[in-house]
Amino acid sequence: MSARKHIALATLVQPNGNHLAAWLAPEAQPDAGTDIAWYCRMAQIAERGKFDLFFIADTPAVRTDNLAIWSHAPTFMNQLEPLTLLAAVAGATSRIGLGATASTSFNEPYNVARSFSSLDHISHGRAAWNVVTSASDFAAKNYGHAKLPPHGERYERAQEFVEVVKKLWDCWEEDAFIYDREAKLTFVPEKFHIVAHEGKHFRVNGGLNISPPPQGHPVIIQAGASDTGRELAAETAEIVFGTSATIEGAVEFYRDLKGRMAKYGRDPDHLKILGGITVIVADTQEEAEARNREWMEMLHPAVGVMRVGQDLETDLSDLPLDEPVPEDRIPKSSNHHQAYFAEIAGLIREGLTLRQVAMRYNRSKATFCGSPTQVADVMQSWVDAGACDGFMVTFPVMPTCLADFVDKVVPELQRRGMFREDYTGPTLREHLGIPRPVNQHVASAAKAAAEQETA
Ligand SMILES: Cc1cc2nc3c(=O)[nH]c(=O)nc-3n(C[C@H](O)[C@H](O)[C@H](O)COP(=O)(O)O)c2cc1C
Repeated sequence: MSARKHIALATLVQPNGNHLAAWLAPEAQPDAGTDIAWYCRMAQIAERGKFDLFFIADTPAVRTDNLAIWSHAPTFMNQLEPLTLLAAVAGATSRIGLGATASTSFNEPYNVARSFSSLDHISHGRAAWNVVTSASDFAAKNYGHAKLPPHGERYERAQEFVEVVKKLWDCWEEDAFIYDREAKLTFVPEKFHIVAHEGKHFRVNGGLNISPPPQGHPVIIQAGASDTGRELAAETAEIVFGTSATIEGAVEFYRDLKGRMAKYGRDPDHLKILGGITVIVADTQEEAEARNREWMEMLHPAVGVMRVGQDLETDLSDLPLDEPVPEDRIPKSSNHHQAYFAEIAGLIREGLTLRQVAMRYNRSKATFCGSPTQVADVMQSWVDAGACDGFMVTFPVMPTCLADFVDKVVPELQRRGMFREDYTGPTLREHLGIPRPVNQHVASAAKAAAEQETA
């Protein structure tokens, strides 16, 4: 047994994998996006690998422009709604955490508090909510806006949104429901606290019709990399998906974010920062790199160019594929994903051709390509350098790459004492080693009692 602290492992799952051309791989199941059996199988493989978290990202929108191009890449066009999906996956698994995105720009706090509380009950304490402000005008248009509200405004709403959700989760104390047959009493009325919230963005007067989530609060995830995003994460997040493709960038991000937590009275250990990585493992590095190249080459160039254009917030489709992208095509500022924007701008400034930018761009994730020992070495070097507490791993093609990782890299991480041999508790909070939050009414009553005692 080593004294090493265990890393946390999450995986972000997209139908057939995270590569835009994954559906073309020989082992792919093209309609996986709507097949719950496929998702259950992926979650079971990840659970066999003792992963902390199985995560589903989401944007509530289909793409409505350039349909001829999107028709080459089904990722954003055909997939299950994440919470419905995870409720089914909960029944097919018993330990792995289950996380999903829900937007604070296009929901009401009541809906989110209620659904994630339900998922936490259904999964017996394994739910996690990825708080996003959303970064897609396609989503905005589905909710009555011509385009996204400005970045700062979205985050202001997000901050109040999280506050209201937590108030709703806390409206019942943990032991409110007693089901005392003798007294014919289902709950203790004094243990229910009406939520009376009046803020700039939300007015809520009422409470949830469901007992508190088994974890107290489902685990809060975030992935914003902007200054405002980091601030919200420092105040509220328990998992953060890092967005640095380099170890130096990740160390800077890690120090900065953990350093911001003190002003919110938080212990830095109660936030797990997971470096975003893509892993392709094979018996040798050459073999792993060859597989990566093969998938890259499957990508339809028009799809790659369009994705780059969307994340850079400008249309690049008029440019020749095999010439460097002129630097003056980089817009002055971004309103969507600031980290993605910066990554593309960096690739353009390196002088790469449009085709190379489209092939290299990996939405702020480092690619670890190699033998099991090599992949474990790089992972270890990131952890030892203070770049992260674990990893949010994406796999270009699933189930192949996930199964290879579970069968080849996980045993190597376990051998090094970096990762658990087995789960030690039933809840996601226990896997992560982060405490259950104390109900805010119980906490303030305890504080008042302590003050009275010392008075
Ligand atoms: C691993 C990862 C997963 C993400 N998942 C989603 C998602 O499901 N939906 C979404 O709208 N944004 C998602 N994002 C985007 C961010 O949460 C964030 O909203 C965006 O980057 C804009 O914030 P920023 O400008 O503070 O970086 C994700 C980012 C990362 C790195």
